[in-house]
Amino acid sequence: MDGKKDHRDWGLSTQAVHAGEESPNPYSSITTPIVQTSAYTFPDTSHLETFMARRREESLPPYQEYGRYGNPTARALERKLAALEGGEDAVLLASGMAAVTMTLLTLLRPGDHLIVTQDAYRKTRAFCTTFLRRWQVDVSVLPAGDYEGMEAAITPRTRFIYSETPTNPFLRVLDLERVAEIARRHGLTTIIDSTFATPYNLRPRDFGIDVVIHSVTKYLAGHNDVLAGVVIGPREVVDPIREARGTFGSIVDPGAAYLILRGLKTLTLRVRQQNHTALALARFLEQHPRIRRVWYPGLPSHPDHMVATRLMRGFGGVVSFEIEGTGAETRRFVDALRIPRLAPSLGGVESLVTIPSLMSYYDAPAEERERIGISDRLVRFAVGVEDTEDILADVDRALACLKS
Ligand SMILES: Cc1ncc(COP(=O)(O)O)c(C=O)c1O
Repeated sequence: MDGKKDHRDWGLSTQAVHAGEESPNPYSSITTPIVQTSAYTFPDTSHLETFMARRREESLPPYQEYGRYGNPTARALERKLAALEGGEDAVLLASGMAAVTMTLLTLLRPGDHLIVTQDAYRKTRAFCTTFLRRWQVDVSVLPAGDYEGMEAAITPRTRFIYSETPTNPFLRVLDLERVAEIARRHGLTTIIDSTFATPYNLRPRDFGIDVVIHSVTKYLAGHNDVLAGVVIGPREVVDPIREARGTFGSIVDPGAAYLILRGLKTLTLRVRQQNHTALALARFLEQHPRIRRVWYPGLPSHPDHMVATRLMRGFGGVVSFEIEGTGAETRRFVDALRIPRLAPSLGGVESLVTIPSLMSYYDAPAEERERIGISDRLVRFAVGVEDTEDILADVDRALACLKS
């Protein structure tokens, strides 16, 4: 039997430590071993034949035979991730983008229609509006929070509503109950990229969402040292994606799976600290005279504060803000910071800071930047697990550098 325990009654921290892993493990190891193999052997041809005849049965683990179809270390991680998000099953992929693209490529057919929100990871939006359109999938891009527009955009060919929550970089929080209700009425499947939330802060499936995607690279792995993605949901969604993974080959190495299993054990501790620091940072920035505007769902000034308060346990570790001043001054502020590293990504133990106009939107046409609201004064600060006081002091000092 693949997966020994029913962990559904445990709290999230207990699940993060124990769910999905064998007990006892092979060799009575406390930790899940890294099964470093490319293929699996059979004792003789009759075992091979029995395996081939039964390999699609649910009671068999979805690996054996060959490493592209799965791996026991990665499988333990899939079970843990499914438990953490309250999903039936999970499929692990080589990156967050692999999870996004494989999900949509597997589930959509030419002629289908997809609704996606505008404030989303740029590569996701670009995949929908270029690749998918090239494959004759009709795509409507709508502002986050426009529920009437979402419903009005639905056609008889609409199959999915896709969004992120909170979104990147303006941290819009969708009213997931409302989205799920619209989808249910029209027989649609809902997909939420919940990378910025983490299951500690928000579990989309608790509010009726069907499928959850994560860039595991971020909070789940949590240490800025590994890339992966996951799709969590009902077997009828996860199984075809797993099948497609066996063809596309977008798998996670067992060593990387082990690092993620290890990183997940401290998920709730890390995210609690990140929530705490980000809220303190957002409040500090909002009252600072050199700050023009702050986006953080934990602030009453954020457009989705009420929704976030209703849906989220904490508001996450990312704060976006605009400097009162020029793009050059914004760069001076970022260069003066000592703790956060200037890098893309978020969610790890090290704080990271980016200027989106210089990174993910560097080659975006001015019209696109304007439409999304990406100015050259916009900063995205992803807090790590450093001391809150040190981060605030660092930001305060870097802002003081702007006075001269
Ligand atoms: C919300 C969101 N989804 C997906 C991705 C892509 O994840 P990965 O970098 O693991 O491919 C990112 C990356 O920043 C992201 O922010």
